[in-house]
Amino acid sequence: MSTTLIAPSILAADFANLQRDIELVNNSEADWFHLDVMDGVFVPNISFGMPVIKSIAKHANKTLDVHLMIVEPDRYIKTFADLGVNVLTVHYEACTHLHRTLQAIKAEGMQAGVALNPHTNVDLLRDTINDIDLVCMMSVNPGFGGQSFIENTYDKVKQLKALINQKGASTKIEIDGGVTNKNAKQLVDAGADVLVAGSYVFGANDPSQTIKDLKALLSYC
Ligand code: DX5
Ligand code: ZN
Repeated sequence: MSTTLIAPSILAADFANLQRDIELVNNSEADWFHLDVMDGVFVPNISFGMPVIKSIAKHANKTLDVHLMIVEPDRYIKTFADLGVNVLTVHYEACTHLHRTLQAIKAEGMQAGVALNPHTNVDLLRDTINDIDLVCMMSVNPGFGGQSFIENTYDKVKQLKALINQKGASTKIEIDGGVTNKNAKQLVDAGADVLVAGSYVFGANDPSQTIKDLKALLSYC
């Protein structure tokens, strides 16, 4: 059986029917909730913040995977821990003292993630990879759902997997942006462990069936 995790991105849910969409994910074969926090500064868009995550956490019964697309994320680490977040991901490009930030996330009892923009070289994680629980490899430029997958991602995933193996790290690789049934298998073959899917899942006629089909597609990888 595949151990690939599927993390529907709530950014693509219907915010006027949020509880319905949270229950849909609860009752599906999905593994995690992927929650995108955007500040309008690090990325040219604003999504949602703490009050919404607090409400989501009341209903969600799966891992909360929060992707911070914000400047100075250190200011809010404790707040997200108190909200019940399980995996907290900060952007490499937003952290001057990444090592310190990772330790602070772990000290709050969360798993520490680092997201890499499409232009950011994988090798920049060489000296921190053993401290990172999850690398969120951006396969689109962060800020919006529904963008096209960047093909260079496959190479980056392979490079990252090689780095993880070389360093004996247990870091998971998550792919975020433009994931569909067209690229999922190739991503897992390259080394991906977690696939985020927003518009592909919530834009489908039957989101739970789409999640189920994605799991089935990956079950022999
Ligand atoms: C983009 C976000 C993604 C987004 C993915 O900045 O980080 O998580 O919700 O959406 P899709 O799957 O539609 O590309
Ligand atoms: Zn994301």
